[in-house]
Amino acid sequence: MNLGARARSALSRAAIRSQQRNEGPPRRTAQDLAEWARAHLPDRRLVVVSNREPYSHLRDGDRIRWVRNAGGLTVALDAVMQALGGVWVAHGGGDADRLTVDARDRVGCPPDRARYLLRRVWLTQEDHARYYSGFANSALWPLCHVVYVRPRFELADWDSYREVNQRFAAAVLEEVEDQPALVFLQDYHLALAARFLKERRPDLQVAMFWHIPWPNPEVFRVLPWKEEILDGMLANDVVGFHIRRHATNFLDGVAETLEARVDLERLAVDRAGRRTWVRSFPISVDAEEIAALAETAEVRRAEAEIRERLGLAGCKVGLGVDRLDYTKGIPERLEALERLLEKYPEWQGRFAFIQIGVPSRIQLREYRSVQVRVRRAAAAINRRYPRAGGPTVHLIEDNLDFRELVPYYRMADFCAVTALHDGMNLVAKEYIAASPDLDGALVLSPFTGAARELERAWIASPYDREGLADACHAALSDAPEARRERMAALRETVLRRNIFDWALDVLDTIVSLNLQTPAQEPAAAMPSGERGPTPRPAPGDSRR
Ligand code: F6P
Repeated sequence: MNLGARARSALSRAAIRSQQRNEGPPRRTAQDLAEWARAHLPDRRLVVVSNREPYSHLRDGDRIRWVRNAGGLTVALDAVMQALGGVWVAHGGGDADRLTVDARDRVGCPPDRARYLLRRVWLTQEDHARYYSGFANSALWPLCHVVYVRPRFELADWDSYREVNQRFAAAVLEEVEDQPALVFLQDYHLALAARFLKERRPDLQVAMFWHIPWPNPEVFRVLPWKEEILDGMLANDVVGFHIRRHATNFLDGVAETLEARVDLERLAVDRAGRRTWVRSFPISVDAEEIAALAETAEVRRAEAEIRERLGLAGCKVGLGVDRLDYTKGIPERLEALERLLEKYPEWQGRFAFIQIGVPSRIQLREYRSVQVRVRRAAAAINRRYPRAGGPTVHLIEDNLDFRELVPYYRMADFCAVTALHDGMNLVAKEYIAASPDLDGALVLSPFTGAARELERAWIASPYDREGLADACHAALSDAPEARRERMAALRETVLRRNIFDWALDVLDTIVSLNLQTPAQEPAAAMPSGERGPTPRPAPGDSRR
């Protein structure tokens, strides 16, 4: 970028910041979150629970090295835990994980400057095959994403899922000892954990965030263990989703499946004397941190090195960053790019696409098959549309560290997020945060949670090849000023609400909504027709 452009970019960043200072709600920082916790959780332990651990230890010859796991959930929650401290309970999946824990299976994280404790839970290969690959990823994942991959329901997988959820709950109970605690469960791997926790410790505050979509009742009703899954989730005090549609789908599913009083106005379920609040909290990224990283000299150097290595001089560059998952619409994206090159021949030889595909859940046939489809589609484009500097589609099948990813984000003239269905999709927000010079564009599927917020993206359906090819063309050919204006608006949205806002909203909701138990509420406050007998507080419920 030349000096003039850099000055303009700095000016527009300054303008965004000043606008946010003057008009928008103040953005929260890690310090705000820490202060909030000191004021509201002074006597309570915080325990976060997820299947995937934030850091893994791996053997490397005679040495042991550690890696930060790159998934959206773990990166986002890691920033929160670094601010708050506490314990994170997760599956120890690294091949050197057992060698690095203490006698209580704990290790400080981040490993080079510990801010919180990671408590590892051990799973056998059989557990992993049945609970993780089986029930979580072959039953719940396709069921919730509705992308025409048939869910598989196996009794042995379900049994294992129950048993592993019990094991996670037991690890949490060991961590909280007999202290008051707030337990924050993550995602579809742990739908039953709250029930097991509350059976032993009804006084615990327990919340769960469901990071993937929740299907409508027509789809959900095919699950053979739907009552048990809902019963487990309703043991939480708060259940969070990214968007309201998923929250209302969940409530509709509860109303259809269980004997419960579902309050669609307040988004709450009363059942067996206790209440579960259901809310939407759109997750985000540590946008300021990403923006700062994107402006470092190290990232600029890396960007120039990638351009050189991939022979991208004089080329416009498109980018995709996804786990190799059938929900991400990668073959559909590549087919649309082939159509782009056919329909708009001016891009032939002048456009390259980098697809970073993170290998994922490779034990499962559907994931191996999407990998093969992506390789074939990339090879077909490269055969049909050769380019002088290098291949037209660069397929990089690797799990890049986040710092390695940022130069790709910075360099891309557009980023394509074409998921067939996605709870949120944090790649979209990361890309925007990493585009400080405003010289980028986002092509975004309407079937992502992110599309609800990022309205100034080029919204195009992955099911519509023609429309998606046109959107990519528009993203590439937009006039510079219009491009900058769109990107400035997108950045304003992403910078205004970051991961700390999300964490504060969720935690504050847990703390404040719990003050109102059904028994304490004036009956007149319930919507008409929804009023039933005053529910009894759960035994031992200490909420006030
Ligand atoms: O999209 C749901 C999700 O749990 C993300 O939050 C996470 O980044 C991703 O799936 C990772 O999946 P896995 O742990 O199976 O690799």
